[in-house]
Amino acid sequence: MKSREEIFAAVKVALSKKRFDHTIMVAENAVILADLYGIDKKAMWAMAMLHDIAKEMDSEEMFAVADKYGYTISKLSLDFVPNMHAEVGALIAEKEFGFKDRDFLNAIKYHVLGRPAMSVPEKILFICDHTEPSRPNPARMSYLFEMAKTDLDETMLRFISMLLEYQNKRGYSLSIRERIWETFDYLLDERRKNKQNFPKAGSSAGLLTDVEFDAALEVIRRNRISVKSVQNIRTLGGFISNYGKCRRTVKTKGLVRSADLSRLTEEEALYLKEESGLTLIIDLRTPAEIAKAPDRKIPGVDYVKAPLIQAYSGIRADYLTERYIKSASEREKAWLLSEYARIPVVRSMYQSMFTDKEALNTFGQIFRLIQSEEGTVLFHCTSGKDRTGVLSAMLLYVLGCDEKDIINDYNASAISFNAMSENHMELLKRYEYEEDVLIGLQSTLSVVPEAIREGLDRITSRYPAREMFAMEVLGMNEEEIDNFQNKFLTE
Ligand SMILES: [Fe+2]
Ligand SMILES: [Fe+2]
Repeated sequence: MKSREEIFAAVKVALSKKRFDHTIMVAENAVILADLYGIDKKAMWAMAMLHDIAKEMDSEEMFAVADKYGYTISKLSLDFVPNMHAEVGALIAEKEFGFKDRDFLNAIKYHVLGRPAMSVPEKILFICDHTEPSRPNPARMSYLFEMAKTDLDETMLRFISMLLEYQNKRGYSLSIRERIWETFDYLLDERRKNKQNFPKAGSSAGLLTDVEFDAALEVIRRNRISVKSVQNIRTLGGFISNYGKCRRTVKTKGLVRSADLSRLTEEEALYLKEESGLTLIIDLRTPAEIAKAPDRKIPGVDYVKAPLIQAYSGIRADYLTERYIKSASEREKAWLLSEYARIPVVRSMYQSMFTDKEALNTFGQIFRLIQSEEGTVLFHCTSGKDRTGVLSAMLLYVLGCDEKDIINDYNASAISFNAMSENHMELLKRYEYEEDVLIGLQSTLSVVPEAIREGLDRITSRYPAREMFAMEVLGMNEEEIDNFQNKFLTE
C-alpha cells in the first residue's frame, strides 16, 4: 500500500489544479464524516484522494488501463462515459496503490451514480464528492453535508432524488435510469424499515431532521396563536436581532403570518383584532385563489391585495400535471407521491420568488407599506408556507435575524401542516382539480429548508449588508429602514 506522501504526489501530477483542489476538499470532508461514523480515516482519506485519479484520462487511456489489468469496463460506463473514470479509478487504487478492502474501493467505483446497498465508505465518498464547496449551489450543498453528519441515508435519498429529477433533462440511457431507480427504491424501502414514523405522502415533517424538527417545535410553542379556523398561524416574534449595540428581539406583536382567512369566524376576527392590535391584512394570493376562498373581512382592519407571483398556482399544477402525472409511469408516480418530489417543485417556486423582477417589486411595496403601519400586520397566502414563508424570511433578514432562526421559523410550517393535512386537502378540493392532480399537489405540502436557504444565500452573497438588500432590491430609503426596524424590534 502506498504511503500518504506517495498518494498526494501521484494525485497532484495526475490532475489539473482545479480538480486537485476539488480532491483535497473532498478528502477533508470525507475524513470528517469517517471520524463521525467510526470508519478508518486513513483509508477514507486515500479513497477520497484517489477518487478522480482517472478523471482527466481520455477513453483510450482508460481502456488501456483496463486492458493492462484484464478488467472489463461495465455496460453502465459504456452507456455513460462520465462514469468510466470511477471504475478505472477503483482499478488503479487497487492495482497501483495496493488497496484491497472492497468497501473502500467500491467507494471510488460508485462515486458517480451510487447503487443500492452502499457501504458506509461508499456513501461518505459519494456525498463528499457531490457536496464539495466549489460545486454549484454551495448553500444547498453545505446544508446536505451538515445533514450527512447525522443521517447518511437521508442525505443519499436527497441526492438520488435529484438524479431522478435530472434524468429527464439529461436524457440518460435506460441502464442509467434503471440504476438510479433501483437505488432510490432501495433507499426508500430501507427508510421505511428503519424509521418508525415514516411519513405518509403529503406529510410535511418528513424532510426535517430531528434537530430541525425540535427547533421548529420551539418556534411553534412560542409563537402560535390560538385561532382554530386559520391554519398555520403564528407571530414572527422573539427572534434575536443583530442590530444595534444592545440586544434587540423581534416584538411579540407586530407581524403575523398565516394561511388564508376564509374560514375565520366572527369571534376569532374580533379576537385577532383586539388581542394582537391588528390593523392591516396583506393577501399574497392570486385573484383566482382569492375568488375561490375569499378572506373574511374584519371591520376596522385594512385589507390589501399583493399577489406575489401571478402564475404561482400555475407553476405547481403544470409541473405536476403536464410534465409528470399525466405521462408518468407507475414508478414515477411513486416518486411523485414520496416527499422527495417536493424538493424540485418547491425549489423552483422559491427561485422564482427570489429572482423574479415583479415578485421582488411586490416585496418592496409590502416592506414600504408596513414600515408606516400603526398596528400589527398579518400577511398570508393560501397555506402560509411558501409565499408567506419567503416574505417572512425576507422580513426577518432585514430585521437582522440569523439564517438559522429564519429557517427555524420557516420549518415551523411543517408542524402546523401535520395537523392540517386533511383540512388542506379539503381546501384544495375547492379548486376542482382532478384526483391525480390533488394527490400530486398534496405531495408538495412540505417545507424544504434547503430551498429557503438557497434563496437566502442568493441575497446574502449579493447584498452582504442587510441595508443594501433593503435599499437596492426593496427600494427602501434610510428613513423607511429605520422605521421598519424600530417598529418591529424591541428597544
Ligand atoms: Fe468523479
Ligand atoms: Fe470528484
